[in-house]
Amino acid sequence: MLAADKVDSTTGLQMAYLKMGAPRSYQPLILQYPPLLPGDGKAILGDALRWAKTIEADIAYLDPPYNQHSYAGNYHIWETLVLFDQPSIYGVACKRTDVREKKSPFNSKEKAVQALSQLLRELKATYIVLSFSNEGFFSIEELRSLCEVRGPTLVLNHYHKRYIGAQIGIYNPKGEKVGKVSHLQNSEYLFIVCPDRSSWNSLKRALENGPAEKVYIQTELFT
Ligand SMILES: C[S@@+](CC[C@H](N)C(=O)[O-])C[C@H]1O[C@@H](n2cnc3c(N)ncnc32)[C@H](O)[C@@H]1O
Repeated sequence: MLAADKVDSTTGLQMAYLKMGAPRSYQPLILQYPPLLPGDGKAILGDALRWAKTIEADIAYLDPPYNQHSYAGNYHIWETLVLFDQPSIYGVACKRTDVREKKSPFNSKEKAVQALSQLLRELKATYIVLSFSNEGFFSIEELRSLCEVRGPTLVLNHYHKRYIGAQIGIYNPKGEKVGKVSHLQNSEYLFIVCPDRSSWNSLKRALENGPAEKVYIQTELFT
């Protein structure tokens, strides 16, 4: 998947492909192991809501979908590479037909509140880290309230270049520009939730020495 990502002929999402192969798509496919941390690990592929209760961790990192766009549909090629099957397909982007049935509660605003609350409530972890964008279903205040049910929460904001479609503007299938570029940056929030007093105290001590990364240009401490 990492190698394929370097030679694809899309602008990011797998909703359409560039008519003339992108220059990078002519590069060789180089398969390399991703950098791994030392020691043993375990990977589980499954519904986070199904697994939340059974996992115990130092850090639970949650990076759920932010909005109605389904990852299974937008990145269907990765689904197929992982499953390595020959699915039935539809449409100009040749998406897997099964992505139409695979629905995540995180892609619906009403269901996502319930799903996120459940995850935050059930996870057994010293720290819970939630990643969310300011262009998703919830405001920073709504997310903070959801997190604080579980414990004191630190919010970090990292400004980020928006997705490539936002940089180049919107075009119709004839190649005509139909929309304007609005803004080029968005905020990526990290909510660090401390379910118990000792993790909160450790986090505060760590912050006294300054955030580890300079990229966090705005922090807010909620007690
Ligand atoms: C914002 S993406 C993050 C992906 C990954 N962290 C990354 O940076 O490449 C959200 C991911 O959550 C997955 N997802 C959606 N609903 C889920 C659920 N109920 N349980 C587990 N994963 C889910 C999507 O398929 C997608 O891969």
